[in-house]
Amino acid sequence: MSGQKLWGGRFTGATDPLMDLYNASLPYDKVMYEEDLFGTKAYTAALHKLSILTAHELKEIHRGLELIKEEWAANKFVAQPGDEDIHTANERRLGELIGRDIAGKVHTGRSRNDQVATDMRLYVRKQLQTLRQILAELIKVMIVRAEKEIGVLMPGYTHLQRAQPIRWAHWLSSHATYLKTDLDRLDQVIERVNVSPLGSGALAGHPFGIDREFLASELGFGGVIGNSLTAVADRDFVVEVLFWGSLVLNHLAKFSEDLIIYSTAEFGFIKLADAYSTGSSLMPQKKNPDSLELLRGKSGRVFGQLAGFMMSLKGTPSTYNKDLQEDKEPLFDCLTTVNHSLSIATGVISTLSVDEEKMKKTLTMDMLATDLADYLVRKGVPFRETHHISGAAVAKAEKESLSGIDQLTLEQYKEIDSRFEADVKDVFNFEASVERRTAIGGTAKSAVLAQLKSLAQGL
Ligand code: ARG
Repeated sequence: MSGQKLWGGRFTGATDPLMDLYNASLPYDKVMYEEDLFGTKAYTAALHKLSILTAHELKEIHRGLELIKEEWAANKFVAQPGDEDIHTANERRLGELIGRDIAGKVHTGRSRNDQVATDMRLYVRKQLQTLRQILAELIKVMIVRAEKEIGVLMPGYTHLQRAQPIRWAHWLSSHATYLKTDLDRLDQVIERVNVSPLGSGALAGHPFGIDREFLASELGFGGVIGNSLTAVADRDFVVEVLFWGSLVLNHLAKFSEDLIIYSTAEFGFIKLADAYSTGSSLMPQKKNPDSLELLRGKSGRVFGQLAGFMMSLKGTPSTYNKDLQEDKEPLFDCLTTVNHSLSIATGVISTLSVDEEKMKKTLTMDMLATDLADYLVRKGVPFRETHHISGAAVAKAEKESLSGIDQLTLEQYKEIDSRFEADVKDVFNFEASVERRTAIGGTAKSAVLAQLKSLAQGL
């Protein structure tokens, strides 16, 4: 049986109990109780400015809203049948606490359509501000680690094949660069979230000329949405948050995939702390990188929520339709997943250990073949030619069964090309190779330190 419905006047028959369950959003939208009460507080203040509420009525309402907030906070709010959603639940309770005569005026000119859009934006704004802090913390941890381990060299890969030597700090800085862009993107999303739909009524606008700018400023919004039809229906901000979360998790998935590979016995570059690993129920020797695998896996979950909600939105007609209630579960789940994922990534990166020796041992002389070509470029030979000459040196070393191009004698080099001189031996130094890449974004110490410095700005 359902209790008294807000919209009950026109209806005579009872609803199917399953329909009540199907329709109810309170089980998940109650997380917005504070925002709902905050919105009503501002809204009733604006009604008072219009003389729709007396000073005494306003005071009573605000007192009631405070009591309801305390009940929710103490987990003492008792939902009743007929509390469809957080808006109906709070209004019903207000009537019980301060009397229906006064509480019955609260919804004048307001609809749950502008109300829910307002609550959502307030809630999302708060959650995104928290995510901003957690994301900034992750970037900071990466920067600190990179600065401390600036001297560590490792192989850089393309196609997952050893390519050129790089600094471990350069790898860290690369992932931090993705995340820093996510942070900038988040700031832009927050700006678009932070606009006020309140005072738009059900769709057509406010019949008593409510001061929408006053409402916006009371609620800390940066502006008002300029069309009431759009204000009640616009869920682009939800799509943007879901997209943003999907991209962040995509970045964390790439980061995780690298680390999973680096943590295998075959690579042995890093070791995850026990706190972020688990064992096998069958094989006693196993230590599995579950934290990283979950980070990688969750990227699919959040992208699924984006795709799912886009499908729910597609083809809905103008203004409010109940399809829009389907925004909440994917959005809330996305916010929680991103929040936890960022925190786990921070834990993983701040506690893993790096095997500097293992990384160094994996560097091989063939990774300096480009540097050998560049050596002749510095002597005025065109790169297309030097690329070929360096290839010939690699082939010769292989043919002679030498361990690397550094083992060829000067005579052998001269046989390949007469422009090789005694200083060719200086090429075969990983540190020197890395240190040549001083241009912006490169792997030389100075270039990586400059990247870290710029990443640290605005965190
Ligand atoms: N629980 C609803 C939602 O989340 C609130 C808006 C209901 N509006 C309506 N016209 N039935 O979308």
